[in-house]
Amino acid sequence: MKYILLLSALYVSMYAHPTFEPSQTCKSCHPTIYKEFQSTQHAKASIFDDEIHAAVWKKHPKNTKMSSYACAKCHTPSASNYGALVEKHNGVVPDANDTTQREGISCAYCHRIESIKPGHMSNTNIIAKEGKAYFGSLKSHIESPFHKIKTDSKHFNSGNVCVGCHSHKKNKYDINVCSTNIDNELDGSNCVSCHMPKVKGSVSTMHKTKEHAFHGFPGTHSHQGMLTQYVDIILKRHERTFDITIDNKSSHALALHPMRVMQLRAKITRKSKVIDLAVKNFARVIGAEGKGTPPWLANEVVQDTAVKANEKRVVTFNDVLEKGDRLEVTIGYFLVNPKMLKSLDLDKSVIATKFHHFKTEKFEIK
Ligand code: HEC
Ligand code: HEC
Ligand code: HEC
Ligand code: HEC
Ligand code: HEC
Repeated sequence: MKYILLLSALYVSMYAHPTFEPSQTCKSCHPTIYKEFQSTQHAKASIFDDEIHAAVWKKHPKNTKMSSYACAKCHTPSASNYGALVEKHNGVVPDANDTTQREGISCAYCHRIESIKPGHMSNTNIIAKEGKAYFGSLKSHIESPFHKIKTDSKHFNSGNVCVGCHSHKKNKYDINVCSTNIDNELDGSNCVSCHMPKVKGSVSTMHKTKEHAFHGFPGTHSHQGMLTQYVDIILKRHERTFDITIDNKSSHALALHPMRVMQLRAKITRKSKVIDLAVKNFARVIGAEGKGTPPWLANEVVQDTAVKANEKRVVTFNDVLEKGDRLEVTIGYFLVNPKMLKSLDLDKSVIATKFHHFKTEKFEIK
């Protein structure tokens, strides 16, 4: 009897998902970081705060009363009932009243990632057992009265603690649904340098610092302006045509997620007339039998025109530029491919139907 109790206690301590200090707790000492974080997709990753994620989950074959919410692994990893959520056949489904699910990817979750286990379908974050002890990368810091600080993390120090969730995700047909790091070069990528730039404002209220790492995580939903320096739009004029080069200086493809469509729009202002030129689309479409499908049915890449990591993509326009013309070139995104809107019941969603502006470049033709 004693042994069984001991063993089950051991089992619970080894396999139970840890619980996390709520993000709200961090607010009093880290108000600037907290405020930035609140506006992000990380804070809104649950089906209750991300209508696009909710719409896809609604149609997902695993979404039955008795099935598992496997998306929790990356979308609500701080849930206090994580184990039950991802387990099959127990009837436990996401719950809007559960505040730990509404946290999305919480402060404490991210800061307790101790190591990352590479996996074929997706990687897995290994969470430190010790609660209230957070990994960080500050070279010099004071002690915190609330938590321990650990600065010996390989992943925090190389800026890639992100690849536990962002590296890659495959489906059962071995199709790569989405990736920033498909070759699993865990040590080669530094996401933080572009996605968490240093900005003004103190790390905490207890120790005045000039700057801190931005926690608003610029991406396709918000703060796009902080990323435009990594994508250049270059014009090359020829006699009867002109080329626009999209120079992608980031370490992953543009329009990463298979739902996205990136667009290049160009217009010429000639005297007082505006001439709209052909719109070019860039997307990686996954599907079956030559047609786009939801990710879980995809067994092939149907079409891939996305601009790849470090690629310079040249797009030729069969239009003549004249002296005095003003050419305006814009890159932006649809978060959800307009062709998928109806089948996902997202045709009335503002965020899903809106063109999200990324960058505009203007050229005077001399
Ligand atoms: C291995 C981690 C992982 C798992 C598991 C996962 N996702 Fe995601 N998901 C991500 C990441 C990372 C992003 C952000 C990618 C991006 O923006 O390019 C994302 C983004 C999304 C988006 C786009 C959201 C938006 O607002 O644009 C949808 C939709 C989505 N996931 C659906 C799902 C569904 C449904 C499941 C479960 C069946 C799931 N995901 C499971 C990691 C994961
Ligand atoms: C009572 C105040 C207080 C609270 C509450 C608090 N912290 Fe801190 N935290 C600090 C102080 C002080 C520092 C050190 C700042 C410095 O030296 O500039 C710090 C530093 C950190 C660091 C930086 C570690 C590094 O070396 O990069 C992380 C990460 C962190 N806190 C996470 C959290 C999280 C997550 C929460 C909420 C669960 C939280 N803190 C709540 C006071 C607090
Ligand atoms: C626990 C898993 C997890 C970790 C760790 C994680 N992310 Fe995410 N991230 C996600 C998910 C899930 C989404 C999409 C949420 C949604 O839209 O529903 C996302 C979205 C994003 C986005 C898109 C934001 C937008 O506006 O479109 C960016 C950028 C991002 N993450 C960067 C990072 C960086 C940088 C790190 C590391 C410092 C990181 N993530 C760590 C799961 C994670
Ligand atoms: C998606 C993962 C992720 C989430 C969520 C997250 N952080 Fe961080 N945080 C990081 C990373 C990575 C760094 C290190 C940045 C660097 O190396 O420049 C960091 C740095 C910090 C620091 C040190 C400040 C600095 O300038 O380096 C503090 C304090 C901190 N985070 C607190 C928080 C708090 C509080 C929250 C929630 C409101 C939070 N973090 C949410 C990944 C995350
Ligand atoms: C050299 C800069 C750079 C580096 C390094 C970088 N990114 Fe990005 N990232 C960008 C730019 C620029 C965009 C905006 C263009 C876009 O959304 O396609 C972006 C967009 C994203 C998005 C949103 C994509 C979508 O479709 O919603 C995610 C998620 C993301 N990056 C995650 C990561 C992760 C994780 C890493 C590290 C493995 C990383 N990035 C490394 C520049 C970078």
